[in-house]
Amino acid sequence: MKTPGRTPVIDLLRTAPGVDVTAKGWVRTKRGNKNVAFVALNDGSCVHNIQLVFDMTHFSEEELKHVTTGACICVQGTLVASQGSGQAVEIAAKKIELYGVADPESYPLQKKGHSMEFLREIGHLRPRTNTFGCVLRIRHAMAYAIHHYFHQNGFFYLHSPIITASDAEGAGALFQVTTLDLNQPPRNEGGEIDYGQDFFGRHASLTVSGQLEGELAAMALGNVYTFGPTFRAENSNTPRHLAEFWMIEPEMAFYEIKDNMDLAEDFIKYLVRYALEHCMDDLRFLNDMFDKELIQRLEQVCATQFVRLSYTEGIDILMKSGQKFEFPVSWGVDLQSEHERYLVETHFKKPVILTDYPKEIKAFYMKQNEDGKTVRAMDVLFPKIGEIIGGSQREERYDVLLARIHELGMEMDSLWWYLDTRRFGTAPHSGFGLGFERLLLFVTGMSNIRDVIPFPRTPKSADF
Ligand code: 4AD
Ligand code: MG
Repeated sequence: MKTPGRTPVIDLLRTAPGVDVTAKGWVRTKRGNKNVAFVALNDGSCVHNIQLVFDMTHFSEEELKHVTTGACICVQGTLVASQGSGQAVEIAAKKIELYGVADPESYPLQKKGHSMEFLREIGHLRPRTNTFGCVLRIRHAMAYAIHHYFHQNGFFYLHSPIITASDAEGAGALFQVTTLDLNQPPRNEGGEIDYGQDFFGRHASLTVSGQLEGELAAMALGNVYTFGPTFRAENSNTPRHLAEFWMIEPEMAFYEIKDNMDLAEDFIKYLVRYALEHCMDDLRFLNDMFDKELIQRLEQVCATQFVRLSYTEGIDILMKSGQKFEFPVSWGVDLQSEHERYLVETHFKKPVILTDYPKEIKAFYMKQNEDGKTVRAMDVLFPKIGEIIGGSQREERYDVLLARIHELGMEMDSLWWYLDTRRFGTAPHSGFGLGFERLLLFVTGMSNIRDVIPFPRTPKSADF
């Protein structure tokens, strides 16, 4: 279907001159003199602007007075070959209509090159900058590519719930969901809050992961994936953590850990390649403005085989590195981003898939190895990011899983349905979670996760 009433800039720039056209969009800049005015118009369809040329013998100053940075206009004119360099075509304007003014005294986006920190303060307007236009278009393209990848590989999209009664990761960083009166919650005889009277008749929260539901579906449909928002109330104010982030979680029946690694590597390379093939204009802008090695890094990741090694081997390398880390390394510690990045950026200079972590630092559902100490976990570690994917082969043996749940003192009454998958027709299976915004950090080269999601939710911040 054609866009009604106008031609998007992305299409105008590919059209041969000589036709009458209508363009609508927001003014980026205006310059000129008494005889001619040049306006750069952007409509978000691509990073490029279309140049509008106003012959001032046909327009009054009054008509163009409010055509200032940020204003929204509709222009009719003829597409002509551009006199200037930088664009093939421009619009010789014949008629202008002003949709919305943007008072230069108060419109905050007057100049180029605002800092990312400043733009976060005006998060409601930052989509109008070139940078966020690029990021949001790439975000869209990646979401589309994710569905495309799974669809063409025979996976089904599963909508896992956002409200849940179980803590999938057992990490306890949950946002509670309640309709109880917080000033006067009902209490039982022991004085504890009586969640039996709450909306769901029990304690409920926002999901930290769709994995457990994904496992149920994989035991029926074979290969599934979820792609939705997940919520973590951990108070980590880092450039890589959000309280609300999107996660892609494939779950596959009959996959062993090696198959899981193969899928993760193929999937992520497909997405990066897709960006290189479909988002080059936006990538080039981000490459030139922020990160001169961005495109090269993306190409490298597509061309290299990821290194695969065990946690134990990784710890060995870190301990022998002679490097001074803020968090000291020994077998059993959870790896920090500095350790992950040392392995990826300094030691191997390639993405790394680390496997077989100590069971104490991983979730209850991971398949236990024969050594009694490690589980069949796999984390994919990326340059500039650290952990981008976390996954594992799942413990499919009912007795072993139950013993682990008891060992960890987990609440059984919210997990009985999960255990039923192991009681009825259990099967070897595996899966992983890719953090969508971590992927976008890598693909866009942005350095703060708050800048790759339209409306970041972080501690003390949920304004817009
Ligand atoms: O390693 P995580 O916690 O694994 C899971 O949630 C599993 N249930 C996944 C699975 O096996 N199906 O999280 C997976 C990924 C991380 O590797 C990271 O990319 C991202 O989710 N992630 C976050 N991204 C942004 N902000 C946060 N607070 C994140 N926590 C995890
Ligand atoms: Mg993890």
